[in-house]
Amino acid sequence: MSSLALMRFLEAAPHRYDAGMRLITLGRVTLLHRLLAEVSVPRPGAHVLEIGCGTGAVTEQLVARGAVVTALDQNPEMLELARKRLREAPNGSLTFLESTAAEIDGLPEAGFDVVVASLCFSEMSESERAYVLKAAFQRLRPEGILAVADEVSPERPWQRVLHALLRLPQAGLAWLLAGRLTKPLRDLAEEVRAAGFEVRAEQRWLLGSLTVLQAERPG
Ligand SMILES: C[S@@+](CC[C@H](N)C(=O)[O-])C[C@H]1O[C@@H](n2cnc3c(N)ncnc32)[C@H](O)[C@@H]1O
Repeated sequence: MSSLALMRFLEAAPHRYDAGMRLITLGRVTLLHRLLAEVSVPRPGAHVLEIGCGTGAVTEQLVARGAVVTALDQNPEMLELARKRLREAPNGSLTFLESTAAEIDGLPEAGFDVVVASLCFSEMSESERAYVLKAAFQRLRPEGILAVADEVSPERPWQRVLHALLRLPQAGLAWLLAGRLTKPLRDLAEEVRAAGFEVRAEQRWLLGSLTVLQAERPG
């Protein structure tokens, strides 16, 4: 995956989002979604809150693994595609909410076993992310899991330089086409800790620019 800089541009045309993401990531986004779903469903029947579900690619895998999912997104067109994708989900296994991530503060406290977010935190401002992470912490039961997949700044300086160079052409194109960019997260683990979580595991690929991070609300 060279870069996700074009992601925001693809969101402007939701019906082309899935195909576009597969193209710019050379199919690797599918692996990312699968891995995230694998670490997000501790057991069938687990209650999962998904933030920024988009067209429902991760949602579909969470439901297939037997989770009871509440999936939200602020973009009604993305949600419509997710609803279509999941139209055959078993009764009672899935609720969609058209909502901003910050509005999870209205959901029941300690109501979920897992909170999941794929490629969504990098689209938020730092202050919004801090608010949402704290709200996610409160939505989880003690020992509940936060699982996040996103684009991050690589840890090693040479990786950061190479990643920035690889990202530049797509970032320029995204800026010209959409006038906005996503920003790789500088220190996701630290932000997650600041919200009260304990980081349990982190897997990185592609010059360390993509992460799947798992954290726990301490018991
Ligand atoms: C790049 S897409 C990722 C979609 C999906 N999670 C995936 O991995 O394919 C980001 C999604 O997050 C949603 N999103 C971004 N910021 C959000 C916010 N503050 N509240 C709710 N949804 C948000 C966007 O509308 C979009 O559907």
